[in-house]
Parts: sequence; structure tokens; C-alpha cells
Amino acid sequence: MSRQTIIAANWKMNGNLALVDTMTSKINSINFAENVKVVICPSSPYLVALSSKVSNEAINVGAQNISEYAKGAYTGEISADMLNEMSVNYAIVGHSERRSLFGESSAQVAQKVKAALANGITPLLCIGESEAERIAEQTETVLSAQLQPVIDEIGIESFKNVVIAYEPVWAIGTGKTASPEMAQETHKFIREFIAQHNAEIADGISLLYGGSVNAATSEELFAQTDIDGGLIGGASLKVDEFSQICSTSKGS
Ligand code: PGA
Repeated sequence: MSRQTIIAANWKMNGNLALVDTMTSKINSINFAENVKVVICPSSPYLVALSSKVSNEAINVGAQNISEYAKGAYTGEISADMLNEMSVNYAIVGHSERRSLFGESSAQVAQKVKAALANGITPLLCIGESEAERIAEQTETVLSAQLQPVIDEIGIESFKNVVIAYEPVWAIGTGKTASPEMAQETHKFIREFIAQHNAEIADGISLLYGGSVNAATSEELFAQTDIDGGLIGGASLKVDEFSQICSTSKGS
């Protein structure tokens, strides 16, 4: 089946209004294949400016985080409802930096996925193992333990509106990209894990690879059978490089 190809940019706590301008003026003019979507996730102060500058239907705006709570006394948090009102239709959920630096558990991540879906926001659910876990051959156990609480919380049917980003923690920001073969093998495992619950959902779900993807590696990674695009950090801050990554994503 033909799945949605997604090229997502995670600016993390980087970027500024000038980058919003230069990035949109460059990528607005790209002619994307019909099943390719680009999702730019800047820091939240730039969401509105970014939305107003996007003029290409393939380009969407995403948040880097979303609160699991609907509203109330949660200083510093941003609700799904607020993002929705700002025309933000994607949100990164459970990024490894949120899990390790801000203590987000898989149970909390599941609540965030639920909050996003309840407001029509597509969660980009991030999962991934650490280097020690890969060396100890625990990758599949770790990924299962990150996915299962979300399946238990929202039900497998709701995964038709979820995108999964597999990001090995050891590859994030390190320059150590997983080889296309290694990434494919893990993506295949993730798709099979979902298929154990529902084969049709597994067939249709977009699985993105993230971790030091750049313009030199993206094409081969995205060409793998079970890789449907990428979540790009560092390289998404470079206008020419990101636009090259977008341009080479042919879709299927
Ligand atoms: P990176 O980040 O491309 O800089 O490794 C990816 C991510 O953390 O989403």
C-alpha cells in the first residue's frame, strides 16, 4: 500500500524569526509529490509566524511537545486546544530529550498522544533505544515497552492517526546515523509489532527514521521498505540542506 511520506523538522530550542523567513521562502516553492508531507516543528513562540508564512499545501506546522492536560494551573504548558487554535496539526510526543531530560514516562507519553488525537492533532510518537540497550540486545524489548502503554491507552485503531518516529538515542545529534540496513530491520520490527495487534493499521502507518539524518544519507534511508520519511534535527536548521532533503523525498 502507498503510505504517506513525512519529512519532519525538529528545530529543538534553536532557530529564530529569520530562520522562519528563510526556510519558508525556500521550501514553499518545492513541488512535492502528492503523498509527501513536510512538518516543521519550531519552538512554540514561532508557531504562529511559521503558520502565517507557509503557502505550500504540503507543508504543515507542528509543536515539539503538547500537554496531556486540557487546561488549568500547569505553568509553562501548552494545551492541544491552544495548538489547534493556532492551526498546528502535528505534535512531536515523547522525544528522547523529553523522556531523559524532563522525565516523561511512557504512561505520560500515552496521555499526550491521547490529548493530541482528541483535538485532531497528529502525534509524531518518538521511540528509540540507548546505545547500552542496543549493545545489550534489548532494542526490541525497549521499543515494545515504549509502544505498548500507548496501544493500551488509545487502542490500536487510533494508530491510524499516529505517526511513529524511530530514533535510536545513540544516533541523535551524534553524527552516527544507523545504517540503512539496521534502520530497516528495526522499522520492520516496529511494523510487525503493530501488525500483531492489527495488520491493516500496521500496513498504513508511516514510520519515520530520525538520528543524524542529512542530505547525504536521507535518500538511501528513505528508500528502505519500511521507512516512510524522517525526523530531522540538526540538518533541518540549514535551509539548503533541509530543502535538499525535502526535494529528494520522492514519495511512493
Ligand atoms: P538530529 O536530531 O537529526 O540532530 O540527530 C533528530 C531528533 O532529535 O529528532
